[in-house]
Amino acid sequence: MHFFSVLFATATVATGVVYLPESVVPTYAPIPAAANEPPVSNSTGYRVDNFGAGAYMVTDGSYQAAFFVTTTSVVVVDAPPTIGNKLLPAIRTITQLPVSHVVYSHAHADHIGAAYLYGSNKTLEIIAHRLTAEELAETSDPNRPAPTTTFEHSYKLQVDNQTLDLSYKGPNHEPGNIFIYSKSSKVLMVVDIAVPGWGPFASLMEAQNVPGFLKAFDQILAYDFDHYIGGHLDRSGTRADVQLEQEYLTDLFNNCKDALLLSGDPPNSTNPISSGAVIAPVIAANPGNSWAEFKVYLDTVADFCNNKTNEKWLTRLAGVDPFGPENAFAMMESIRIDYGILGPFGVGNSLT
Ligand SMILES: *[C@@H]1O[C@H](CO)[C@@H](O)[C@H](O)[C@H]1NC(C)=O
Ligand SMILES: *[C@@H]1O[C@H](CO)[C@@H](O)[C@H](O)[C@H]1NC(C)=O
Ligand SMILES: *[C@@H]1O[C@H](CO)[C@@H](O)[C@H](O)[C@H]1NC(C)=O
Ligand SMILES: *[C@@H]1O[C@H](CO)[C@@H](O)[C@H](O)[C@H]1NC(C)=O
Ligand SMILES: *[C@@H]1O[C@H](CO)[C@@H](O)[C@H](O)[C@H]1NC(C)=O
Ligand SMILES: [Zn+2]
Repeated sequence: MHFFSVLFATATVATGVVYLPESVVPTYAPIPAAANEPPVSNSTGYRVDNFGAGAYMVTDGSYQAAFFVTTTSVVVVDAPPTIGNKLLPAIRTITQLPVSHVVYSHAHADHIGAAYLYGSNKTLEIIAHRLTAEELAETSDPNRPAPTTTFEHSYKLQVDNQTLDLSYKGPNHEPGNIFIYSKSSKVLMVVDIAVPGWGPFASLMEAQNVPGFLKAFDQILAYDFDHYIGGHLDRSGTRADVQLEQEYLTDLFNNCKDALLLSGDPPNSTNPISSGAVIAPVIAANPGNSWAEFKVYLDTVADFCNNKTNEKWLTRLAGVDPFGPENAFAMMESIRIDYGILGPFGVGNSLT
């Protein structure tokens, strides 16, 4: 049983409230078996995976943190609030050594919002990228204590017998999101980029920089790793998982690019998304409303791209359809405004 089913099943039973009649509850493509690991334990609510050389992952089925046991202490990466109070008990199933260092993958509260739970030890060192520290200073959330050490390009965190190579390669999901690598265990943690076995969460994992997000897949694959920790859902990944998701994103990119180009072609009976034909009835029904035209046009292009992509991927990755529309939309927007492929809105095209 999965994190969300447990959470929401309990809530529904407790209140007896049903929000959606069965007829309108969406049903999506079934989840391919390869998507999931053995489920987290019902009694503890977490699972600890051992990658060897003192490297471990903790998951509650929804989020993931990592820890590295040294000869005298524990180095933890992230503190997702959903795991929250289970983090230290999970570490205690492996070792009684104190937590001495915390690494923040990036500033987002859903991945480090339980970091205060490590914070009673005043000698605790917290390491993050400079931009993560700046982002945290702007919001000053007591649940995410300020880093004590920051870096710009790379940082070698050496604690007794464990070494983590931290590297910043530029903005992707969020500015300040870093690559965390343990050579001795061949574990690579890069959060909110790939989700092994699954399609991306909404809007390409909420990427703030889509070209950087796409490039991150090549940057991940440039490492010599056996275990990829992406921060989400219930399992870690292999190189093949990262490659498969990269292949999905390449298809999504190409399908959205093709759709944009097609939408710039003149209307005819075999082109269902020609901008002229799509926009004409919207103008008629909403005189003077520029956003209405743009909205319907963009949704149509994204929908076409999403349909084309799903045809090939619904059986290969889990959950590509629930957020398929948002992912196609985000990809299409990046292709337009980052990559400059503007379809009908380019110089000399059908609308300009
Ligand atoms: C958790 O409980 C569910 C429902 O009772 C059961 O189907 C599942 O096998 C249990 N999982 C584990 C890991 O015990
Ligand atoms: C470091 O020491 C811990 C504790 O003895 C051990 O579990 C782990 O395997 C060691 N890791 C490395 C990389 O030497
Ligand atoms: C705090 O961390 C330091 C450095 O590893 C360690 O020596 C100390 O025992 C820890 N204190 C507690 C209360 O865990
Ligand atoms: C209709 O438009 C498509 C896309 O631009 C084009 O490939 C096709 O040749 C056109 N068909 C006719 C009959 O003009
Ligand atoms: C996408 O697929 C849905 C469901 O088959 C269909 O209703 C819709 O018209 C398609 N969209 C485009 C733009 O082709
Ligand atoms: Zn994030």
